[in-house]
Amino acid sequence: MSNIVVHRVDEPGVLPDETKLGFGKIFADHMFVMDYETGKGWHNPRIEPYAEFPLYPAAMVYHYGQAIFEGMKAFRTVDNRIVIFRPKDYLNRFNRSADILCIPNIDVDLVNEGLNKLIEIDKHWVPGSLGTALYIRPFIVATDPYVGVKSSDTFKLFIITSPVGAYYAAGFNPVKIKVEDKYVRAVPGGIGEAKTPGNYAASLRAGVEAKKEGFDQVLWLDGIERRYVEEVGTMNIFFKIRGELITPALNGSILAGVTRRTVLEIAQELGIPAVERRIAIDEVFEAHAKGELEEVFGSGTAAVISPVGQLTWKGQTIIVNDNKTGETSQKLYEYVTGLQYGKIADKHGWVAEV
Ligand code: COI
Repeated sequence: MSNIVVHRVDEPGVLPDETKLGFGKIFADHMFVMDYETGKGWHNPRIEPYAEFPLYPAAMVYHYGQAIFEGMKAFRTVDNRIVIFRPKDYLNRFNRSADILCIPNIDVDLVNEGLNKLIEIDKHWVPGSLGTALYIRPFIVATDPYVGVKSSDTFKLFIITSPVGAYYAAGFNPVKIKVEDKYVRAVPGGIGEAKTPGNYAASLRAGVEAKKEGFDQVLWLDGIERRYVEEVGTMNIFFKIRGELITPALNGSILAGVTRRTVLEIAQELGIPAVERRIAIDEVFEAHAKGELEEVFGSGTAAVISPVGQLTWKGQTIIVNDNKTGETSQKLYEYVTGLQYGKIADKHGWVAEV
């Protein structure tokens, strides 16, 4: 056990109305914080009141974006336990992003201990209704006050939490997707695999244009040939063609989603054939023309499974599964959320009780 100092709020915050949560606008009372300095390593792990924190305007994160983040969730189960879904998998991915952004690795066990302590202290902030959760946002920012380009010598790690409802206003309803053929999200050899702000900043322009055109999100193609499918919005993507689930193989420019992995593992368990391979957008449209495209859905922590009802590529629109949520999407959604809310027994060791 490490020495995590706890400094509690004087006045606990007012808990929000669970029926009006939305996503990511309300924050729980406390946060976990830790500092890094070259030569000293990560030190001073502590829990503090959630509050503003001072940084010099020259802090490197503001200028060159040396930062990474994670997103995971804690749930209140139907029998009133508090659990975190696959926390170590998310923290290990945090370290993978750290490697890519030249940020020093964290001790996963120590940060997991801090996370558990934080959730224990703020457990009354974990909402209980179905579809809600306490979203957990760990992040690291470069703090050297220096406007030259280099890797920072000082960093700060934070974990903040936010009670959330559905990520998309549409909830679990099929979304309209524009296949993006002008902009790209990431390129081979770049930082697409990292959960880092730059990838999300790079996605905004395409998203704004797609919304103006009446779409909900964009589907990203590869940065070289603009042909192979990569991700959808901020999520990984799955196609069901002739009874088989297909998701793009991890190639360095695709985020290694924890929900993506969960879906692949559950599919195997349920006997649904599933493969990771390169898939071209023309293959998707051809499968639709032959009546073989059965379902399309995104997978991510925030929305879990997000069915796609319509895809538009170079002006051609296809409707997937009559714009209805497919049987496999439904089954996977129920399985994943069943585990998270304790309605299905966890035999995988994914559910960590706080
Ligand atoms: C997710 O789908 O879980 C995300 O990455 C969304 C998050 C950036 C809010």
